[in-house]
Parts: sequence; structure tokens; C-alpha cells
Amino acid sequence: MISRLLATSSFTATLASALPGLVHAPHSSALLARSSCSGNTASTRSQWCDYSIDTDYTTEPVDTGVTREYWLELTDVTVSPDGVSRSAMAVNGSIPGPTIFADWGDTVVVHVTNSLSTSLNGTSIHWHGIRQNYTNQNDGVASITQCPLVVGESTTYTWKATQYGSSWYHSHFSLQAWEGVFGGIIINGPSTANYDEDLGMLFLNDWDHQTVDELYSSAETSGPPTLANGLINGTNVYGEDGDSSQTGTRLAVSFTSGTSYRMRLVNAAVDTHWRFSIDNHTMTVMAADLVPIVPYETTVITIGMGQRYDIVVTADQADVADNFWMRAIPQSACSDNDSTENIKGIVYYGDSPGTPSTTGYDFKDACDDETANITPYISKTVSSAQWNDLETASVSRNSAGLFKWYLNSTTMLVDWAKPTLEMVTDNITEYESDDAIIELNEANQWVYMVVQTTLQVPHPIHLHGHDFFILAQGSGTYDSSTVTLETDNPPRRDTAMLPSQGYLVMAWETDNPGVWLMHCHIGWHTSEGFALQFIERKSEIASIVSTSTLEDICTKWEEFQGDYSIEQEDSGV
Ligand SMILES: *[C@@H]1O[C@H](CO)[C@@H](O)[C@H](O)[C@H]1NC(C)=O
Ligand SMILES: *[C@@H]1O[C@H](CO)[C@@H](O)[C@H](O)[C@H]1NC(C)=O
Ligand SMILES: *[C@@H]1O[C@H](CO)[C@@H](O)[C@H](O)[C@H]1NC(C)=O
Ligand SMILES: *[C@@H]1O[C@H](CO)[C@@H](O)[C@H](O)[C@H]1NC(C)=O
Ligand SMILES: *[C@@H]1O[C@H](CO)[C@@H](O)[C@H](O)[C@H]1NC(C)=O
Ligand SMILES: *[C@@H]1O[C@H](CO)[C@@H](O)[C@H](O)[C@H]1NC(C)=O
Ligand SMILES: *[C@@H]1O[C@H](CO)[C@@H](O)[C@H](O)[C@H]1NC(C)=O
Ligand SMILES: *[C@@H]1O[C@H](CO)[C@@H](O)[C@H](O)[C@H]1NC(C)=O
Repeated sequence: MISRLLATSSFTATLASALPGLVHAPHSSALLARSSCSGNTASTRSQWCDYSIDTDYTTEPVDTGVTREYWLELTDVTVSPDGVSRSAMAVNGSIPGPTIFADWGDTVVVHVTNSLSTSLNGTSIHWHGIRQNYTNQNDGVASITQCPLVVGESTTYTWKATQYGSSWYHSHFSLQAWEGVFGGIIINGPSTANYDEDLGMLFLNDWDHQTVDELYSSAETSGPPTLANGLINGTNVYGEDGDSSQTGTRLAVSFTSGTSYRMRLVNAAVDTHWRFSIDNHTMTVMAADLVPIVPYETTVITIGMGQRYDIVVTADQADVADNFWMRAIPQSACSDNDSTENIKGIVYYGDSPGTPSTTGYDFKDACDDETANITPYISKTVSSAQWNDLETASVSRNSAGLFKWYLNSTTMLVDWAKPTLEMVTDNITEYESDDAIIELNEANQWVYMVVQTTLQVPHPIHLHGHDFFILAQGSGTYDSSTVTLETDNPPRRDTAMLPSQGYLVMAWETDNPGVWLMHCHIGWHTSEGFALQFIERKSEIASIVSTSTLEDICTKWEEFQGDYSIEQEDSGV
């Protein structure tokens, strides 16, 4: 096996264009045409064949009968997205990796091959925000739903596109997502606002010239390091504008006056909260994560790690200038050690881009969420409970030595070689406290949870397998006698901010059997154990799991981990 591994290890890819100048974004993204009907047009985006934006995808199973099949290969690469070369890991040689396209109701089959033959990293791929309705085993979380996939092997993830909109896939093994193992997911369906053209994904990343694996020990001992740069859709410059030593290229997006463009923002950073804007243009926001919302207009949008927004921007500023800055601005209120300020792309009218001289919108540096602006288009009410009985999980950090994060007094430490799903199918009921397991055994019950922190650090909280309702989100200590919980169509999504020295009150229903992780989406914090897992409807799980797939991957992993003496130095997720 080893000779085969070495044979592929010389593969490298360079992302930045070898020529100086600007990267031109392709104008028309080739969205795959829906096979069974014509979808919608620029002026009828709320329609979708036999369905529409009024169909509730959480209750209405839609089945096109179409299967979309993809092959993705992970390799160790050398990249220079800002003109500075470093090692990284990529999907099919590019960062971001290929976008997965499907239509609402399709079945998506993705074959993932681990060819990380230089780094000898295991892997698992998580389909962020995808509900995995009764398909928990395809959630792709190392130590939870599978063992890591070894180098030289492939595995297949199969899931139904029960939702539609914009999301992303990323590695859920170690810090690999922030080594470059991620890409977009676009599920075509209706939308609450019209637009002419779809420009596809727009990733916002922080980036350094050392890898996250190299930086991890300093993150653990001294706290989050300051990163050197950031990328907009995988590219940026490095250095000051006008300085001859500046390297790299900026993303440049061509606008035609009068056309409206859909863009799918993703915060894929390891530890940066962004404010995004395009000078002098207004955005219409029409989806938050995979949930369509009543459209609202804004000039600057705040986006936490793991969150997504679908925006429409109309090219209506050609009389103001030819070139405009597109800005991704790190919010220092979220992290003292954020990346630099020169993270910008260009929107241009005319034949080719030039250097903009436009001024950015005013904004307040803050670590807030868009919650107050978000009204889900399909209205839902949360059943009320005995609000004084809410389950509480508190966030804390150990004082000395290494930074470890506690959620409800537990720092998660799970074993790559013993995924929770295997414990469930093996009928193991004795859990260790650092498994951080909470059982939710009753079907179709509401779960209410308060996550709170007294520390001055905000956290993006992500739940797998569900969209959760945001009943309250605020600063200070949660007090059930003074805080009013919003139960009438509150925002629901898969990632929301726990404010600094504040609380987040979440609710969801136990309608999806499986083992689901809940964690802080700051990469360092996931690795430092800031996570809980829910075993939901345990008695129903074995019947939806392939134990042979589970065991096959685990047997190979145990052998591989032993052969190469691979040490687990993180939480396991
Ligand atoms: C989720 O799966 C269950 C069980 O197969 C099924 O009854 C339900 O219709 C599915 N929901 C959706 C929205 O597809
Ligand atoms: C990714 O690369 C594999 C070969 O390693 C190829 O078969 C596949 O078509 C590529 N996938 C995409 C989506 O480009
Ligand atoms: C993954 O690869 C990186 C880069 O070679 C290395 O630093 C890291 O230790 C590896 N991680 C694991 C868990 O093997
Ligand atoms: C960002 O990159 C993705 C994948 O490489 C591409 O499909 C998309 O069109 C790009 N987005 C923009 C706005 O250029
Ligand atoms: C974080 O930022 C502070 C203030 O700029 C600086 O003193 C400190 O060295 C930084 N920490 C790291 C780990 O980079
Ligand atoms: C463009 O936006 C800036 C910042 O908001 C503003 O000061 C300026 O007046 C705008 N220019 C025009 C021509 O609208
Ligand atoms: C968190 O820990 C407290 C105290 O041990 C316990 O009462 C509570 O039920 C736990 N919360 C959850 C969600 O498990
Ligand atoms: C687990 O328990 C179920 C129900 O009692 C039984 O059918 C199954 O064989 C057990 N599995 C193992 C691995 O012991």
C-alpha cells in the first residue's frame, strides 16, 4: 500500500494565477438544468415546478427520482492564494473545492477518496446544514458517525436534498477544514426574491502563511493566533496596496448595469467574524443558512463562522464609478486576534477591472448576529414549555495550562477509533463523562436549551441534524423571569451566535434519529473540546445504520493509526 501512497504524493496545485493582474470571475455560473421540469425564471423565482416557496420543506417530502453523483479526491497541495506559497490540503486540487449542485428533492451521492499521502491525515466530510433526515451515518463526523477514512481508501456519502439553498461541505477531522478541505453546496429551488444571474458561492476565509496544524499548539497554549490574511472566494492580495512587494490577486466580479446577481456567502474562517459589504450597493438578504426568509435590505451584513446568507445585489451604481470595493472586514469585537484589514475584492462595470477609489459604508465593529432582521418565510410556532425547567449548558475555559473549552463542565474528548454510532449499534450504554453525551429518547418532543457564558468571548454555535429556533439571544445572565422567549416564528437556522458574556436559548424537535454534534464553529474551540453530542431516539438508530460500512472504515483506521503511530491531540471532532 505504501508505494501507492508515495506515488501520488508529488501532486501539487497552485491556485493563484501565474500572471499578474486580477482573477476574472466567470459571469454565468453553469447551474445544472433541472431534468424533470423547467424550474423558474428571473421573474418567477418563488415558483418551483409542482412546488413553490410556500411549500414547507420540513414536512413535505419532495422526490425528483434524480441521483446526482460526485467524486471528490483530497490531496496534499502547495498553494499561493495570496501569492505566498505554502502547503495545504484541497479537494480536487482547489480551494474552495468543487461545488456540489443538486435540485431540491434529488438524492446526492458523493464518493470521497483520501489521497492525503504526504500528511497521512485521516478524513471525514461533513455536509454542513444538511438535515440528514434519517441518514445520520452520512453526517461525516469523525469519532461520532464514523472512524476517519484512511489514506488510499474511498467512502460514499448518500443524502437527500430535502432542503434547498446554499451551504458548504468541509472536513470534520482535526483542523483539516481550515487546511483547505471545503467546498460549496448549491441546492436549486425557489427563493423569496427574484434575481437575474446566479454568481454561485462566495467564501470568506481567514488565512495564514503557516498552516492551522502548525499554529494549533500556540492556539492551545497562548490563545488564538493573529492570522496574516484573509481570502475572498479563495484569493486575495498580500501586502499594502501600492506597495511593489504586494503579491497575489483580488477576486474581480463583473457587473452589467441593470442586472441583479445572487451570491451565496459562507463564513468558512477558523476564527474570524466578518462584516461584508460592496461599496455604494445594497444587498437584499433572502435566506439565512438553508432557511428562506422574508427579504430585507441592508448595506453591511454580519456573518459568523459556519453561517451562510443568500444575497441579491442589483448593479445600479454604474453612474457613480466603474470599480467598487467588496469588503470582508474582521470584527475585532469577536476576537482580539483577527486577521488584517486588506481583505477586499472588486466589483466592476465595463470591460475590465481597475483599482476602486470608493469609500466603505460606516459600521460599528461588533460581534452581533442578524437575528433581529430575520423572519423565516414559512412561519412556525414553537410549543411552549415549563420555561423555568430549561436545560442549561455553561461555557467555561480552564485557567491554567492548555486552553480547553468546557460545555456543561465537560471538555469533549472522543476517540477517532470508537465512533458513538458504533457504541449505539453495539448496545453500549455506559458513557464516559468526556463523551459529553446527552440522550434524547422521546420522539417528537421539543428540546429547549440555554447555552450561556460569563467569558468575554462570543461563539458561533452549530447544531447538526436540525435547524434550531432562536428563542432568545442576549447579553448578561439568562433570567427566565425577565427574558421573554420568542416562540412565534423566531429565526431558525443551523448556526447562531452565543454573545460574549451572554446567552442563546435554542429549541428543536426530536424528529431525526441519530447522533448529532453541537459545537462552537471556531476551529480552535472545536479541537479544544467545546462540544456536546445528542443521541436522539436511540432505539431507532440501529435500523438506519450499515454496521458493515461502519466497521470496515474503523478496522482500517485502527490498523492505519497503529502502523503510522498517529497521535490524537484534539477533541476527536
Ligand atoms: C424524513 O424521513 C422520514 C422517514 O423516512 C419521512 O417520513 C419524512 O417524510 C422525511 N421528511 C422529509 C421532509 O423528507
Ligand atoms: C474530482 O476529481 C476526480 C478524480 O480524482 C474526478 O473523477 C472528478 O470528476 C472530479 N470531481 C469534480 C466535481 O470535479
Ligand atoms: C495532518 O497533517 C498535518 C500536515 O502534515 C500534520 O501537521 C498533522 O499532524 C496531521 N494530523 C493528523 C491528525 O494526523
Ligand atoms: C467562487 O468560487 C466558486 C467555486 O470555485 C465558483 O463556482 C463561484 O462562481 C465563485 N464566486 C464568485 C462570486 O465568483
Ligand atoms: C493577540 O493580539 C494581542 C494584541 O494585539 C497581542 O499582544 C498578542 O500577542 C496576540 N496573540 C497571539 C497569539 O498572536
Ligand atoms: C458611496 O458611498 C459612500 C460611503 O457610503 C458615500 O460617502 C458616497 O456619498 C457614495 N457615493 C455616491 C455617489 O453615492
Ligand atoms: C448540565 O449540567 C447540569 C449540572 O450537572 C445538569 O443539571 C444539566 O441537566 C446539564 N445539561 C444538559 C443539557 O445536559
Ligand atoms: C443490541 O440489542 C438489540 C435489541 O436487544 C439486539 O437485537 C442486537 O443484536 C444487539 N446488538 C449487539 C451488537 O449486541
